[in-house]
Amino acid sequence: MTTTPRPLLPLFVEGPHGSRAAMTCHYRCGDACSQPIPNTSDNEEFHEIAARAIARRSMLKGAGAGVGAMVLGGLAAAPAAAHGGRPGHGHPGKGHGHGRGGDLGRFTPVAPNKADAVTVPKGFRTDVLIRWGDPVEAGAPRFDVRRQTPEAAQRQFGYNNDYTGVVPTGRDTALLVCNHEYTDEALMFPTGAYDSATIKRIAMASHGMSVVEIRRGRRQGSWEQVDVRRARRNRRLHTGTAFTVDGPAAGTERLRTSADPRGRTVLGTLNNCSGGMTPWGTVLSGEENFNQYFDGTPSARYAESYRRYGITGTGTRGWSEVDPRFDLTKEPHEPFRFGWIVEVDPHEPDRAPVKHTMLGRFKHEGANVAIARDGRVVAYMGDDERGDYIYRFVSRDRAARGSSDRARRANRGIFSRGTLYVARFTGDGTDDGQYDGTGEWIPLASDTESFVPGMSVADVLIDTRLAADKVAATRMDRPEDIEPNPVNGRVYCALTNNSQRGSTFPVEESNPLASSMVRASLDAPLTPASGNRNGYVLEIDPRRDHTDDRFTWLLLLVCGDPEAPETYFAGFPKQLVSPISCPDNVAFDGEGTLWVSTDGNQLGSNDGLFRVPVSGPKRGEVRQFLTVPIGAETCGPLIVEDRTVFVAVQHPGETDGATFEAPSSTWPHTDAFPRPSIAVTYRD
Ligand code: FEO
Ligand code: CA
Ligand code: CA
Ligand code: CA
Repeated sequence: MTTTPRPLLPLFVEGPHGSRAAMTCHYRCGDACSQPIPNTSDNEEFHEIAARAIARRSMLKGAGAGVGAMVLGGLAAAPAAAHGGRPGHGHPGKGHGHGRGGDLGRFTPVAPNKADAVTVPKGFRTDVLIRWGDPVEAGAPRFDVRRQTPEAAQRQFGYNNDYTGVVPTGRDTALLVCNHEYTDEALMFPTGAYDSATIKRIAMASHGMSVVEIRRGRRQGSWEQVDVRRARRNRRLHTGTAFTVDGPAAGTERLRTSADPRGRTVLGTLNNCSGGMTPWGTVLSGEENFNQYFDGTPSARYAESYRRYGITGTGTRGWSEVDPRFDLTKEPHEPFRFGWIVEVDPHEPDRAPVKHTMLGRFKHEGANVAIARDGRVVAYMGDDERGDYIYRFVSRDRAARGSSDRARRANRGIFSRGTLYVARFTGDGTDDGQYDGTGEWIPLASDTESFVPGMSVADVLIDTRLAADKVAATRMDRPEDIEPNPVNGRVYCALTNNSQRGSTFPVEESNPLASSMVRASLDAPLTPASGNRNGYVLEIDPRRDHTDDRFTWLLLLVCGDPEAPETYFAGFPKQLVSPISCPDNVAFDGEGTLWVSTDGNQLGSNDGLFRVPVSGPKRGEVRQFLTVPIGAETCGPLIVEDRTVFVAVQHPGETDGATFEAPSSTWPHTDAFPRPSIAVTYRD
């Protein structure tokens, strides 16, 4: 094994979107890439860190082959038992009959490709479990793309499935819980078939989440939807669903509106990206790019907060035309009611889902929990924006164990009291041949006390980004899914990319690339581009416990084409790995092997899902398990029983210039237009 020196490559400026379609930027993020960077905080400390790292790197040039391998070899050899059991009980991915002998480890990797298909290794089969428009609630009409109504959409599977959880309810039954992050009106509606107000109302109904009863299919490893007439827990949450607000910011002034003078009930959840399952059987979901839904004149009173969250009054959705609460002029507080982590109890269809203010407000990618040694709950969270932060919540109370009805009810207040932290990363220099160092969790607020001067507890929770700016947290390259590994106790975070690292954001050891190699198409040569284009996977080692305030970290993967000099795969031989670009979501199988899905491949291929061992001699062996169709993103990966791989195929056909009439994908090939769907893959 060798370690490649990582020279700073020449700067080469590209457009703001990289290879991600401008269409995706427009519909998903409200053109966030073209907006000013919200994090303009001046963290001097990090310029210093950067200067130090650069100085060390130039000293390092040409040196270091083998050094990283030695360090990594030591790490890889660390016995899993040293961490085993640390995160505690009840990881949902392990439940549900885990260990029935499934084996997803043996496969021939899928080659990068541009097929309009879910491509899986030989010997595997993929079924489509549920598609956009399929009935969820009893009485929902059969989907007809030319006869869509808001009322029908409120009872059908929403658009652009993202996070996907499978909550067991019995030996052969489970609840599928999915996010519907956003809508793409250019692909959803035949041109001229609907008036603009109807399109907006259908779009509002097609956002949110779905709960769907599923059961094992006839083939081993397969799953199918339960007949909706008998599925009493099926449920659609949409922009009209009432959510309860809890935690210290509930009821405070900025959460009150004319429709909700108590500030404790919000209609709807927006832009729900990723999420996680709790050990007690509920689902957490992150409200991400919520800023794009608001139009009107921003109130000068909240200018600083609005700016930091990208709330400009130039929302790309136009929803204020059909619902005045999305008009900032009329309801300046409505944006404060989004950007939270929501918790849904899929077992109780009549219970209002909850927005947890104690988990902070930002562009939440998702939240994933571990149970600390003492039984407290720790949630890890990323704020997915260029230059934003990684957060942790530690509960005040211990969680009730298990997933019984009693445990679920006992844990209803667990996210209401505790402490919210933000991460600061310090590099130890690159002369050790590795991007690594130490870190600390800096407290921002508990439920009773603010640790940020000049800000109340409610201020910290509502303007979490502003609070984190003040404590010099580390500005990261789009922290997405962050999830504790239930087997080795370490925490893995996907850092998707940041084209402005090295310009707007100085390089530092935890965000080290000012330039990286990309490919315009599969047969194009690698060319340098400015910034971090292919992303990283960060491994955090809490060492003793998830509640400790100090940790060590390293970049497990520096993603890209293995031929690119900057790439790094935990020291595994590069000639043996699959190219990987723009990690977005992470998941684990029952053995603690990491699975990484991607969004926005910069190497000319469709996005995909990759298996990456994190211990033993194969640590860092990235192998591609599947690719998704043209224009799609691989969301919500979930490994069930080490036998079945669930992925949410989001925005198939979302390529620039595509329309309903001229789609670039027709996956899953049941219609003449694409339909975002949940794909289930298992050994045939
Ligand atoms: Fe919705 Fe952070 O991706
Ligand atoms: Ca180092
Ligand atoms: Ca994502
Ligand atoms: Ca995940």
